Amino acid sequence: MKIVIGCDHGALELKETVKEVLKEFPEAEVQDMGTYTAESVDYPEIAEKVCKEIVNGSAEKGILLCGTGIGISMAANKIKGIRAALCSDVFSARMSREHNNANVLAMGGRVVGPGPASEIVRAWMTTEFSHGERHQRRIDKMMALENK
Ligand code: RB5
Repeated sequence: MKIVIGCDHGALELKETVKEVLKEFPEAEVQDMGTYTAESVDYPEIAEKVCKEIVNGSAEKGILLCGTGIGISMAANKIKGIRAALCSDVFSARMSREHNNANVLAMGGRVVGPGPASEIVRAWMTTEFSHGERHQRRIDKMMALENK
């Protein structure tokens, strides 16, 4: 399973934490799409790069990080086919997979510390979509909004 990850300058350290945690998942082939330096970058560009890999089928899931996680998740959710969940706690991370079948996890480097962020990633990586009829129906309705 390929996982693409990306961050802006506000979450460089968090990206390294996430990459460390992803090593616990040998089935995950991780591709780091940047940014790689502290130089300021615009989060929509990172969101687009990462999400493109998901919507074109090259990757299954993505993890996007910026200072708050807000801008980068908003940008990601503008891209057709993306369901990005901004999570700062384990319960939300789990639910975003179980109920919403999120294909992108977003977090804020200035919001969550390395310990909680690691647990969030573990929860998100290990929780499957529940495939319940009502959840699929709601997701179908949500995705239909892209064409309205
Ligand atoms: C960059 O300073 C900051 O605005 C960005 O990382 C993010 O928090 C935006 O939502």
